[in-house]
Amino acid sequence: MSDAAGAPFERRVVVAADAAALTVAAAGHLRRGIFDAIAARGACWIALAGGRTPRAVYERLADPGTPAIDWTRVHVVFGDERVVPPDHADSNYGMARAALFDRVPLPPSQIHRIAGERGDPAAAADAYAADLARAFAVASGRWPVLDIVLLGIGSDGHTASLFPHTPALDVVDRLAVAAVAPSAPASRVSLTYPVLNAARAVVILASGADKAGAVARAFDDTVPVADCPVRGVRPAAGSLTWHLDAAAAAKLADAQAR
Ligand code: 6PG
Repeated sequence: MSDAAGAPFERRVVVAADAAALTVAAAGHLRRGIFDAIAARGACWIALAGGRTPRAVYERLADPGTPAIDWTRVHVVFGDERVVPPDHADSNYGMARAALFDRVPLPPSQIHRIAGERGDPAAAADAYAADLARAFAVASGRWPVLDIVLLGIGSDGHTASLFPHTPALDVVDRLAVAAVAPSAPASRVSLTYPVLNAARAVVILASGADKAGAVARAFDDTVPVADCPVRGVRPAAGSLTWHLDAAAAAKLADAQAR
C-alpha cells in the first residue's frame, strides 16, 4: 500500500469469522495498542469512532482484561460527531459514554468531545480544533500525533464524517471541519485527513455484508478517494489495520487481485 506521495506504509487485514469474533479481535488489538502507548510514552491518545460497530468493542474494552489498561493515562478524542447534544441518541460521545466512559476510571478532563450541542458545526469544529491544539501544544500547520485512531466505514465508503464528494475532503489546513452527511443526522464535525494520517496507528472496523462493497472499493487502487473517502486514510508514518468480519471481507479478494 502506498500513500498519496507514493510512499509505502504498513497495512494489515485481520478477518474474523463473525461480528462477535471481530469484537474480540479488535478489542484485543486496541487493548494492546493502548497498553503499549502508555508503556512507551506514559499516556495513550486515542480517537474513537462513532456509529454502531464500535459499541461492542468499547464494552469489551471496559471489561477487565489482559493487559490491564491504566485508564487514568488514557486521553480520548473523537474522529467525528453528530451536531446533537451529548445525551442525544445519535451522539457518538453519548454512545461511548454508555459503553465505556461510565465503566472505567477515565478522568472526564481527559475526554475531548466535540460540542455538538452548539448547533453550529463550524463553531463546534473550530472549538474542537482549538482544544486539540492546546492539548497537544501544536502550532498551526502541525498535526497532533494520536497514538491510535479508530475508524469505521460506511457502505458509501465514508469514514469519520468524510463523505464522498464533499468539501470536507479537501480541507487539509485545519484539525477539524464541519461536514455534511447524506443522511440524518446530516450536520457533523470531523477530524481532517492530516490528523487521521498523522496517527501512529489507524484501525478501521467493518462488519456485515452491507460493507463488503465499500471494503472492496477501499482496496481497489483504481477508485478515486472522492468516490471512497476511506481511501484517503494513508498513515504517513503509521500502521493501518483493517479488522473485518467474513461478511465484510467477502468481496475483498477480487479487489486485491486487481
Ligand atoms: C459516525 C461514524 C461513521 C461510522 C460509519 C460506520 O459518526 O457515524 O463515525 O464514520 O464509523 O458510518 O457506522 P456503523 O458502524 O454504524 O456501520
